[in-house]
Amino acid sequence: MPTLAREGVTLSYQDLGSGTPLLLLHAFPLSSEAFWPQLATLSKRCRLIVPDHRGFGASSAGEGPTEMETLAKDALAILDAAGVSSAVVGGVSMGGYAAMALTLLDPGRVRGLVLVDTQATADDEAGKVRREELARTVEAQGPRALVDAMLPKLLAPEVDPKVRARVERIILATSARGAAAALRGMALRQDSRELLARFAGPALVVVGERDTITPVEKSRQMAELLSRSKLVELPGAGHLSNLESPEGFDRALEELLGGL
Ligand code: MLT
Repeated sequence: MPTLAREGVTLSYQDLGSGTPLLLLHAFPLSSEAFWPQLATLSKRCRLIVPDHRGFGASSAGEGPTEMETLAKDALAILDAAGVSSAVVGGVSMGGYAAMALTLLDPGRVRGLVLVDTQATADDEAGKVRREELARTVEAQGPRALVDAMLPKLLAPEVDPKVRARVERIILATSARGAAAALRGMALRQDSRELLARFAGPALVVVGERDTITPVEKSRQMAELLSRSKLVELPGAGHLSNLESPEGFDRALEELLGGL
């Protein structure tokens, strides 16, 4: 995997295929591996660039909370290193928060926006408290605590056991430091509803109809705010709809890419 250094942090990313660049940003607490179906399929139809966020996968952690703006700047540095001036920018859940932060920072580089199982609203006070509690638990107990807290919510109960096992393995490989920093960073994120209302490019909003972390209603709200959006609700899928319903997910992405 190519790497680059930014402010003392090593950022690792996958860069596969050719054609229209598609930057996909992964969810918490996973890694670029969480796009394994798409790394095999979409990379045949476009240039797929998939970073490990700082503190996840093969990327090292930074100091302090990992704010969504920092993830956005990391991703922009990766696009620079890859020689990509503009890309379709998408993300799943926390990756969606980072994709919106990138769009706020540098809208000219976003040819299209893909928001998957995510939300435009910020955490309320109770949500911030829950994040800090989980950050402390993970620091004390390690990534097994993340599996216990998150795995039951990430996937629909009927998911293929092989998918569940692979997601669990990815979470167990997560560093406690990186995860705690990201939890504290997500708690600091801003509301992005005004940004979405201003965004004039094509947008795709995808959600698993059984997502309980960012329920369908959150996606309908984002799709209504975006002036040129398509909303795709994937039957049977939970919060990681690109893994639970990869054919439907890929079809929606291919349609967006084909329409550019
Ligand atoms: C994620 O899947 O990235 C997280 O569940 C998002 C969040 O906790 O807000």
